[in-house]
Amino acid sequence: MPWYTDEQIEEVRAANDIVNVIGSYVKLKRSGGSYTGLCPFHNEKTPSFSVNPTRQMYKCFGCGAGGSVITFIMEYENYTFQEAMEALAERAGITLKKREMDKEHKEQESIRMQLLEINRKAGGYYYAKLKSPQGKTGYEYLASRGITDETIRHFGLGYAGQGGGELYRFLRHEGYSDAILKETGLFKMDERGVYDKFFNRVIFPIMDVNSRVIGFGGRVMGDAKPKYLNSPETKLFDKSRNLFGLNYAKLGKNKNMILCEGYIDVIALQQAGFTNAVASLGTAFTIQQAGIIKRYTDEVLLTYDSDQAGRKAALRAIPMLRQAGINARVVNMEPYKDPDEFIKGLGANEFRKRMEEAENSFFFETGMARKEYDVSDPEQNTKFYHAVAKMLLEFEDKVQRENYLEAVAAKYALRRDDLKSLVIRYGTSFPGNTATADIRRPAAAIKNKEGNKGISYSYKLLLSLIIERPGLYKQIKDIVQAKDYFGEPYSQVARMLYGQLEEGRLEPARIINHFSEADVQNTVADIFQTGFAADMGNDELEKALNELVIHIKEYSIDKRTRELTDLNELKGLIQEKKALQTPAKLHIYLKDG
Ligand code: UTP
Ligand code: MN
Repeated sequence: MPWYTDEQIEEVRAANDIVNVIGSYVKLKRSGGSYTGLCPFHNEKTPSFSVNPTRQMYKCFGCGAGGSVITFIMEYENYTFQEAMEALAERAGITLKKREMDKEHKEQESIRMQLLEINRKAGGYYYAKLKSPQGKTGYEYLASRGITDETIRHFGLGYAGQGGGELYRFLRHEGYSDAILKETGLFKMDERGVYDKFFNRVIFPIMDVNSRVIGFGGRVMGDAKPKYLNSPETKLFDKSRNLFGLNYAKLGKNKNMILCEGYIDVIALQQAGFTNAVASLGTAFTIQQAGIIKRYTDEVLLTYDSDQAGRKAALRAIPMLRQAGINARVVNMEPYKDPDEFIKGLGANEFRKRMEEAENSFFFETGMARKEYDVSDPEQNTKFYHAVAKMLLEFEDKVQRENYLEAVAAKYALRRDDLKSLVIRYGTSFPGNTATADIRRPAAAIKNKEGNKGISYSYKLLLSLIIERPGLYKQIKDIVQAKDYFGEPYSQVARMLYGQLEEGRLEPARIINHFSEADVQNTVADIFQTGFAADMGNDELEKALNELVIHIKEYSIDKRTRELTDLNELKGLIQEKKALQTPAKLHIYLKDG
């Protein structure tokens, strides 16, 4: 929920010239219409960071960072959107008036405060229990796993006793109502009574980035199932947006973070001095978590389990990290299963060595694919080319994509030109594109991601083509209008972009700033920099563009037909559909752009 109106955001942005602001952090040199310098977001010796004063945007061709002056401050200072706004407002001498919280918002806020208080008390209760005679089994279990007293205190570990309703009675005694206790997710309530969710387990409090307890994980002390039980999602606890251990990891002066699978892994690593370890919370790693990590670092060391499931999980996490602009490397933990066991087996120094030797995630991916195919067989070898081409597409930035293309071609002795033409074909492919219809989808590893691309990938391509070739807008809008984009942020971006082009001014930065969440800003900034148009010949581009607009239009007509409520609109839709079948009228000619 934005605290500021669009006008306020625009006022702050307009008052802070991007060249001025970035110039106070980075040494910039004029080059043609823009400025260049060394990118502050990754290590480099030759400048690939560029600031465009006309568009009021910055972009790094090396690491893909990019956005508006507000995005820059958010990324550079690790600020939230609100904090960046405040800082930039102050810099420009603007006084910002925050919007008044409305009544409903106030109520929700008060519930959150109570839930935080209850969680803190529950955490204290479990901790005290662990230290009491009744907690002996729990304490001994933790000790048997090598967890020290100091670590128990540091992480606030605890023990949930024999159950029934001990915690419930304690909290009722503290004066909390059933209504609010129900919202904590710590109890089962039914006709027969109220029971504590956690019993006979060691307890791991889950803390948010500010060390406030927002949920719990509990482990059985033997082999019973389920091994771990976790708090459900509540008003406080959103699993996809939190990382276990982040409250400590964020403090370190480390240049990277270690991402692992389990609570115990984080605890063992942090105890061994690797205070930069975090874990996703008993669920698959999410793109939101990647965005959160990106606030603190650009490099992640993946220490997922060294079994099949762990490798698969790593293959899922890598593209998400990459999309967030994070460079990932994969730590080899063989012959151990996870970091906890590794540290116990070989110690911290050996682990540090493995960290240094960690493999670039792209080569981890291509290496896994390589194992899937028998490249001495021509058929399989072709499939390997296709798989690699698709992986290269994960790099949104052109220069980076090229660099990896060169490297992977050299590593596996692949023909670079063939590989490159595959990359371009995939880059401009979308469901329904005949030019690429013969392309099969080989790599099981990225199937998931492919499946999600769908229509939003087509939107992204078209919007980026419009920005790269604004001269084509007049022809495109005759076919695809702003109303033909569905789903956020695309629909909003399209409305704003079309609006700007109607008024004859293209200001992508203004569009980015409309969105206050950092991860959405990143998505939007990505729309503006796919760079495919530059890679394609004119004929190729024209063909792709024409199929793209028809595809988006068809999707829109179908969707609107399916969701039709007013039959009078049907006639119009049928006409629109008919028009699509006489493509001669609708053709877009590149020479005009
Ligand atoms: P693992 O099964 O790899 O366990 O689950 P682990 O972390 O090595 O735990 P130990 O060493 O046996 O104690 C990894 C993570 O997946 C989640 C937990 O967050 C766990 O730390 N998980 C696992 C669950 O949420 N529920 C389960 O039943 C199992
Ligand atoms: Mn383990």
